[in-house]
Parts: sequence; C-alpha cells; structure tokens
Amino acid sequence: MIGRPWGEVLSTSAGDLLVIRPKRIKLPFWMVLLGLLLRWSGRLLWWCLRHPVVTVSVVLALWLYVEFDWPGLVVPLVLAATASAVWRWRDESSWWTFLAGPLLGSCRRVFVYRRAWREAMTLCGLAEMYDHRPVLPELLRVRSDQALDVLTVRMVRGQTPEQFQAVSANLAYAFGRRHARIYSERPGDPPTRTGHAAWLLRLVDRVRYRDRPTLVYLALVRTDALRTVVPPFAVPAVPDFTALPLARREDLRTWSLHLLSTHVLLGGATRSGKGSVLWSLVRVLGGGIASGLVRLWVIDPKGGMEFGLGRPMFARFAGTSFEAMADLLDEAVEVLRERQTRLAGRVRVHTPTEADPLVVVLIDEMAALTAYLQDVELRKRIASSLGLLLSQGAGVGVLVVAALQDPRKDVLPFRDLFPTRIALGLTEASQVDMVLGDGARKRGALADQMPRWAKGVGYVILDGTPDPMRVRFSYVSDDDIRDMARQYPAPVDASDILAQVGRETATEPVRLPLPRKPSGPLLPESLRNLLDRDAGGDAR
Ligand SMILES: Nc1ncnc2c1ncn2[C@@H]1O[C@H](COP(=O)(O)OP(=O)(O)OP(=O)(O)O)[C@@H](O)[C@H]1O
Ligand SMILES: [Mg+2]
Repeated sequence: MIGRPWGEVLSTSAGDLLVIRPKRIKLPFWMVLLGLLLRWSGRLLWWCLRHPVVTVSVVLALWLYVEFDWPGLVVPLVLAATASAVWRWRDESSWWTFLAGPLLGSCRRVFVYRRAWREAMTLCGLAEMYDHRPVLPELLRVRSDQALDVLTVRMVRGQTPEQFQAVSANLAYAFGRRHARIYSERPGDPPTRTGHAAWLLRLVDRVRYRDRPTLVYLALVRTDALRTVVPPFAVPAVPDFTALPLARREDLRTWSLHLLSTHVLLGGATRSGKGSVLWSLVRVLGGGIASGLVRLWVIDPKGGMEFGLGRPMFARFAGTSFEAMADLLDEAVEVLRERQTRLAGRVRVHTPTEADPLVVVLIDEMAALTAYLQDVELRKRIASSLGLLLSQGAGVGVLVVAALQDPRKDVLPFRDLFPTRIALGLTEASQVDMVLGDGARKRGALADQMPRWAKGVGYVILDGTPDPMRVRFSYVSDDDIRDMARQYPAPVDASDILAQVGRETATEPVRLPLPRKPSGPLLPESLRNLLDRDAGGDAR
C-alpha cells in the first residue's frame, strides 16, 4: 500500500482520490536568510574548488589591485601578453596545444556552448524523457585548436553515437557552424613520447586515451581549413607506401593514404577534382618512380587528356586504343601470375624493392572500360583481367587505383573489391554509400552536398575507425606536372617488367614422411599391440 503524504486532508471524493494540502513549517525570517546565505556560500565554495585556476587568478588580481592599484593589474597583463606573443612566434603548435587551445576552449564552453546547450539538444532531438523529466546529454569539456572545437559529451543512458551522427548537420547549424562530425572514439592518436619521463607520460596516455563507450566527441569546424587551395606536398625521396601525404584534413593535419596492399576507388562527379587526387598520388610517388621502386601503368580513356603531360613518369601508358588498354591489363595479370609463382611459399606479402617494384595501375574514367565500351569481347576481356587484379593483386604488389563518376553496380561490377575508398563531390545521396560503404552518409559523409567551390574536397574513411573525415586534396597545376615529369622520369628499362625479373617456377618442396601417430584411445591395448607388431613386420 502507498503511504499517505504528510499534510492535511482537505476533502475525499467518492473514489480513492484524496486532496491534500502539504504541511507548512513556519520559520522566522532570520533563519530563512541564514539558510539561504549558507546555501549560496556552499555553492560558491564548490564552484571555487571546481575552477581552481579562475579562483586563483581572481584572488591574485584582487590582491595585486589592493596592493599596487591599477599598475598591479596592467603590468602583469602586458607581461603575459608579450610572453604569449613570443611563444606563439617561436612555436605556434605548442602555443595552441598548451595555452590558446585550452583557454579558448574554456571560454567557448561557457559563452557559446553552455548557453545554447539545452535548446540545441532539445531541438536536435537528443534530449530524452525519463521519469517525466527531460534528461540531456552532458557537455564535459571543450577543446579548441586552430580550426576545430572538439566537445566531449556524455550521452544519455541508452543513446548511441549513431543517434548523434544522424543529426550532425543539425548540431552544426545549432551552434552556428556549417560542418560537424561525430566521433565515437577520441579523435587523434596518442602522441609519441620520448625522453626520460616517456614511460610515465605513456601511462598517463593509456588512461587518457582509454576506450570510453559512454562518451561521444563532437567536432565543430570553427574555421574551415579546406576553403583555401592546398598546395602540393613535398616529394619524398623514398615514398612510404603506408603513409603517402595527399590531402589536408579539417583539423589542419595531413591525411595520408595507406597504399600498400590495397586498391583505391575514387568516386566523384564530373569536375569534382578527381584529377587532383590522382596527380597528388603520382606526385608523392615521384621519388620512387625515378629510383624504380614503383612503376605506374596508366590508362587514360580520355585519349591522354588527363595524364598525357606526365608521360615520362609512366612505365606503361594507354590513352587511345582500347585494345592497348586491354593488353596493358592482361600484362598486369601476367606480372601478378609471375609474382605468385615466384613468391608462393616464401612470403605472404610482397615487399616492393627496386628489383621487384610496386606496380600501380592507374585508371581514370574506369566506366569507359567496364560499361561504355561498345566492343563486348574486349569489355569481357578487360573485366576478367580487372577481376583478377582486384581480387589477387594487392598482396603481390600489383595495385589498382581507379577513378570514376558513376559508382552504380552496373557501371562498376567490382566495387566491393576495392578496400580503400575516397568520395569527392557526388550528385546523389545514394551514391555516397555506394562509394564509401553502407552507412557512411549517415555517419556524416555528406559528399552529395558539396558547394561549388569545393573542388578536390572529399570524404575518406580513416584507418581503424568507421567515422568519415573531410579532406581537401592538394592541387597539382600543369606547371607542377611538367616539372615533375622532368625531375622524376621513370628509368629507361621501366616498361618491360617481366623481362627484368626473369621468370622462375617454384619447385616442389622436399617432403618428410609423416611420423606414425600414437595409437588412438579407442582401440584396446591388446589390439593396438597386435597392429603395431603387424606394421613392424610389414616394414621389414
Ligand atoms: N584540389 C583542388 N583544388 C582546387 N581546385 C581544383 C582541385 N582539383 C581540381 N580543381 C579544379 O577543378 C576543376 C576540375 O578538376 P578535374 O578536371 O580534376 O575534375 P575531374 O573530376 O577529373 O573532372 P572530369 O570528370 O571532367 O575529368 C579544374 O578546373 C581544376 O582546376
Ligand atoms: Mg578527370
């Protein structure tokens, strides 16, 4: 039975309904005032304990003012501003990490996000009702850098990061920004620690970067770093195939492609800047092309319009005849077969060397080969070579990097065989998932909403997380291409790779006879002895 509330019963209706006036305790005025004062002081004390930096600063400022009047405030402020300016001038990145970022983050937390939090969460549909009361996601921390504000948010019990990802655009506009991204794990990798205290810092990092499934990270783009054209990256003498710098990320870091052991599919509408992605890749491979560590086999069905300028860099090139393109692909399959025979039983993954280079088959406008080609026989031949290359080439260093405009299955039947995908501006929302994989658009890859200026801007999926990242690829101009072609031509003997490696066939391995197994437990001892004796007799 439910207990009756404390108070005076005013009336009872015919049913069980009781109308009760709560009992009031009358207190003297001084006691109420004292209670209120105690409550406010308690709150103030708690606030001071939670914000020690602000408290100490205010106390210090008051003390300086009382002791030295106005100069006591102005002189330290001028000194601090000068020190900060010098710090920024000497090392801007550490200045952002340790001073400006946390300071700006704290200010924006109080003056921007906290003020709009309740309204934004409710109107974006992230407030839940529990026990007849609204429960909001909790804003824990704001960290700013040059480009982004990263908000650490504790979800309401029962929410998932997908719910936040579904309303990421609403969240961006709710806080007056154009782009927002939701990360289910803390964005950014732990820093590499060196020096004496590295072990301690690594321990701290393990705690800081631990998996925290109750949190989501909302990154709001404060200053869009992708609005300006990205200049070409420096060409490394020896390319690191696991991290080829190609694009600028929203957070001003560099996005690098892991090319080794993968095939890359690049989807983008016409004039979206596919050329700049392919040329950025060619550029960072330049050092390897000249030294012979990597061979580019290029198919340019636009008659050489896109890649003709860089012809000296390419070991093989087909631009006009589809027959020649089919031959090129067949030969790539031959290289694949030769490598499989040679490497089988020795290694499981091919490591590129100058004697045995990485072969990258670069295809612009792939649909011209797989869908729009009139000659059915030729199309079938191309399809079968492509299928083989895509399904078996990654491990033996014969990779395919293909660009196309229309990612539908009937245009590109091998879509699923590309492990790495890049989506530039696309024309339809459904194409985003076709290029980047199921659910990518829901997770914030709005490649179909690219503004007109966003040439070479696209979405990539970062290694190790399912969350898409917005990047802008470097723009390689025609003059840069001419320079590259002069500086990094492929070696003279680059075209005939099969003649260079020499074919070998793997020989049958020497096999040892199997040792006789110990007898199974199912046979009785006497029978086993009998069998063993017989076997011994046979052997003699
Ligand atoms: N990263 C970039 N930064 C700035 N401008 C770019 C970038 N990439 C391309 N552009 C510009 O965008 C235009 C189209 O680029 P591009 O020819 O590479 O597109 P595409 O996707 O290959 O088009 P198509 O399908 O017609 O071949 C060009 O005028 C180029 O100057
Ligand atoms: Mg193009």
